[in-house]
Amino acid sequence: MTEQQGPGPGRTRQSAIYRRGTLGQQPRVPTDPDELEARAHKEMSAKAWAYVSGGAGTGASVRANRAAFDRWQVVPRMLHGTTTRDLRSEILGTSLSAPVMLAPVGAADLVAPSSDLDIARGAAAARTPYIFSTQGCAPMERTAQVMGDVPWWYQLYWSIDEELVDSFIGRAEDAGAKALVVTLDTTMLGWRTQDLDLGSLPFSQGIGIAQYTSDPRFLRIVAERVAAAGDAPSPLEGTKGAEKVRAAASGARTLLSQSRRHPGDTRDNLRSPEPRAAVETFLDIYSNPGLSWSHIETLRERTQIPVLLKGILHPDDAQRAMDLGVDGIIVSNHGGRQVDHSIASLDALVTIRERVGPEPVVLLDSGVRTGADVFIALALGADATLIGRPHIYGLALDGADGVRDVIDNVIAELDLTMGLVGAASIAEITKKAFLTGPA
Ligand code: GLV
Repeated sequence: MTEQQGPGPGRTRQSAIYRRGTLGQQPRVPTDPDELEARAHKEMSAKAWAYVSGGAGTGASVRANRAAFDRWQVVPRMLHGTTTRDLRSEILGTSLSAPVMLAPVGAADLVAPSSDLDIARGAAAARTPYIFSTQGCAPMERTAQVMGDVPWWYQLYWSIDEELVDSFIGRAEDAGAKALVVTLDTTMLGWRTQDLDLGSLPFSQGIGIAQYTSDPRFLRIVAERVAAAGDAPSPLEGTKGAEKVRAAASGARTLLSQSRRHPGDTRDNLRSPEPRAAVETFLDIYSNPGLSWSHIETLRERTQIPVLLKGILHPDDAQRAMDLGVDGIIVSNHGGRQVDHSIASLDALVTIRERVGPEPVVLLDSGVRTGADVFIALALGADATLIGRPHIYGLALDGADGVRDVIDNVIAELDLTMGLVGAASIAEITKKAFLTGPA
């Protein structure tokens, strides 16, 4: 917990790192965010790197997210005598030891096997809530067990199959999710140039579909598909010669990957049409391109837990969400992965907070790399921030410990920043008190 009697998480972490330095040890997970990214890049396969680091199109939205932070400057106050900081807050009944949560990231098994479970271990060790992805790599019930008493939320992609939507929501509630986060911006995958140029879609390898293959409704749809398929045409049809040999080898690798990840025995799966049918079913139904406000209106009757909408960037949409009675919004451009040249999330946060006023719960996602970033986002009106890519980079470098290190580093810097500028609590971090920047 972060109400401090002692030196606080910032100084405690600093001292631990410097003490290890006297023994010649350097952190396995760099504190510098660019170095973190560069070192993780070296550990990751080309496909993992493309999927995790990549953005839509030219990557302008990814860059815009960072540039937006650079337009703001912190103005520290002096002689304030602030010796202790309280980083705690509560969002929709979820207690946060610091205003930081782990963003949902799909298909993280590309980076490390058992990814979601390791991320959960790291999050739980740092006592930081984790938002489980619908495109996760472990069934939510298993990941929930790893979280223990640390709260978690469930992120929903709205399937075209309404029964599946209900099944996911019901499972999340039963497993103990404290809130439901509906992602609005991925009704289709964006134009992901890095993945496209490798021809790489993790889901087609069976990576990132574990919530589906553990779902009774989904498995029923797959069984119907298998029963209806008869003799489906071979994917090799139309290829010849060396191309056919290469395609057959890739096809065999894909089949093995799908079969390994499908529930049950891999050898049995290799002989069954089910793993491939599961992937194809997922691709057909995971998302609803026709998602609209009328779907969101149905949520009040479908769940008891708080609902947040993720992916809001326009103040009118934010207002409409509030008018509909959702419990909160997450301002996000999906880490710049969906629409190229999108408005930066931080810029959208400013106009959205202005529009909805101080009361509604507004979280910020996309572009957050450091504790100073969290400070700026809070000052601009976020109640808390989500961290996405950095925790995956920590995972790549040191598994669950790496995830924990990334979280601890962000919180340490936030705590030091607060102590240095003179903010004793999260509520004291305001634009008026501490920021200068665009008019
Ligand atoms: C899914 O959420 C993705 O961004 O790929």
